[in-house]
Amino acid sequence: MAYSFAGRTISKVGVIGSGQIGPDIALHFAKVLAPSGVSVVVVDVSAEALAAGEKKLHKKVDRGVESRAFKPEQGEGIKGAVTFTQSYDELKGVDLVVEAATENAELKGRIFRQVEGLANEGALLLSNSSHLQPEKIFTTLADKSRAGVVHYFFPAERNRGLEIVPGADTDPEHTRWLLRFYEEIGKAPIQVGSRYGYAIDPLFEGLLQTAALLVEQGVGTVKEVDTVARKVLGLGVGPFTAHNLTGGNPITAHGLSILHDEVNAWFQPPASLQAKVEADELWDTPKRGEEITVSPEKEQQIGDALRATFWGLCCEVIDSGITTVSDLEMCVEIALVLDPPFASMNDYGVKEAYELVKAFAAKFEGFPVAKCLAEQSAKGDWPISYVTREDHDGVAVLTIRRPKVLNALNAAVFKELGDHADAIAADDNVIGAVITGFGTKAFVSGADVGFLAECESPEQGETTCLASQAPLNKIEALSKPVVCALNGLAFGGG
Ligand SMILES: NC(=O)c1ccc[n+]([C@@H]2O[C@H](COP(=O)([O-])OP(=O)(O)OC[C@H]3O[C@@H](n4cnc5c(N)ncnc54)[C@H](O)[C@@H]3O)[C@@H](O)[C@H]2O)c1
Repeated sequence: MAYSFAGRTISKVGVIGSGQIGPDIALHFAKVLAPSGVSVVVVDVSAEALAAGEKKLHKKVDRGVESRAFKPEQGEGIKGAVTFTQSYDELKGVDLVVEAATENAELKGRIFRQVEGLANEGALLLSNSSHLQPEKIFTTLADKSRAGVVHYFFPAERNRGLEIVPGADTDPEHTRWLLRFYEEIGKAPIQVGSRYGYAIDPLFEGLLQTAALLVEQGVGTVKEVDTVARKVLGLGVGPFTAHNLTGGNPITAHGLSILHDEVNAWFQPPASLQAKVEADELWDTPKRGEEITVSPEKEQQIGDALRATFWGLCCEVIDSGITTVSDLEMCVEIALVLDPPFASMNDYGVKEAYELVKAFAAKFEGFPVAKCLAEQSAKGDWPISYVTREDHDGVAVLTIRRPKVLNALNAAVFKELGDHADAIAADDNVIGAVITGFGTKAFVSGADVGFLAECESPEQGETTCLASQAPLNKIEALSKPVVCALNGLAFGGG
């Protein structure tokens, strides 16, 4: 048996590296592909790493069975599909490889040279590097067109965030296939241009840099800064806790020093982070259930610095041109589990956000004040798109993309659907349209309850309802055929 999707068949997947993240990537592949008979081979040079990886994978599957996420036979199927081995020969005949070995371009290059001769002809060779540009990893590969970066996020078996980073030589067809494939197997991928750290890690690492500087300057303790970060940025866990959980201190210290050279001079590993790496120590973060009280003045000072860092760096990423506002908005929220940056700036006031970033830059030398932020502050809210349009042979395909809420309909989605209907009506090159939902779980999960809850009176409720119906009426009245491709749950939005 094998898994086939959009012209490609996969019987065997290889994962190289059984450290922090490799076994989680293998677990994700096994969860989604083992039912189609796909086997997953995890290769590492270290027997201890393999044993620990296998133990971790089995533990996670057992927990899944206990919590009834999987039936016992599914759990056995997942475990049975994954082999842990020191032998690269076991990779013979793989159709897709994700390398998750130590973050070192030269080592990764050597691994891919070895894998190139073992993988099936045409197999996709992918690296889960967290920073390195594809052009630096695949330098000596004979066929670079089938190679690229797929950057997963912790915990890789559950976190839906994924950056797909093609290199200069990556075949665009492969990139398109990867975007569709990962969406099909439950991720919410975005395509990102090739730059050190890509779009997301400079944000994650920059937040730790500011957090550590605040502690070094005596503004707050590790516990206080972590607590305020959760509150003001809506983070699932604070930056220090996130680094403890992912074992991220060494990668971030190294990453910050290269970001300094390649992206922006502000990035610098703080002394306290260097000390933690040298002593191989974790941060003293809040214990589970521990209540940390922070005075309002302190909270304001810490909160302003963290907001400015986060928003300022997001805008710097947009200035760099490697991604778009809408893609970054979605990926940041999902991958880093925090409030979406551009909607947050809109709530706070884009002008006020710009002032905050400027004030932070005046205090922290070299911090970037992005051109796009200065420009947007003069225009108003950030435009964020939740409906994508792609045209194929005269058919406009509209995809409602709000994966966090199963594509629920809010005012912004309704407005965009109406604007698309107008554009399709006026476009002589378009003969019809397809409307679908992002991902595989839902077409649309109905009206967004958050947006409905904002209605404060029956009159406002009526206005909101009518405003939502107008775009749908436009679609109904289109003189061109419109087909819904129902790709999952579909609830009424009326
Ligand atoms: N940890 C995370 O949350 C995370 C997130 C995204 C990306 N990444 C990236 O994934 C990669 C792995 O990260 P990690 O945190 O798991 O690192 P890690 O240090 O925990 O594990 C790396 C593993 O690679 C193995 N290895 C070294 N040389 C090898 C070789 N020649 N062949 C096979 N295996 C080899 C090591 O024995 C080790 O087990 C890095 O590039 C990292 O930047 C990590």
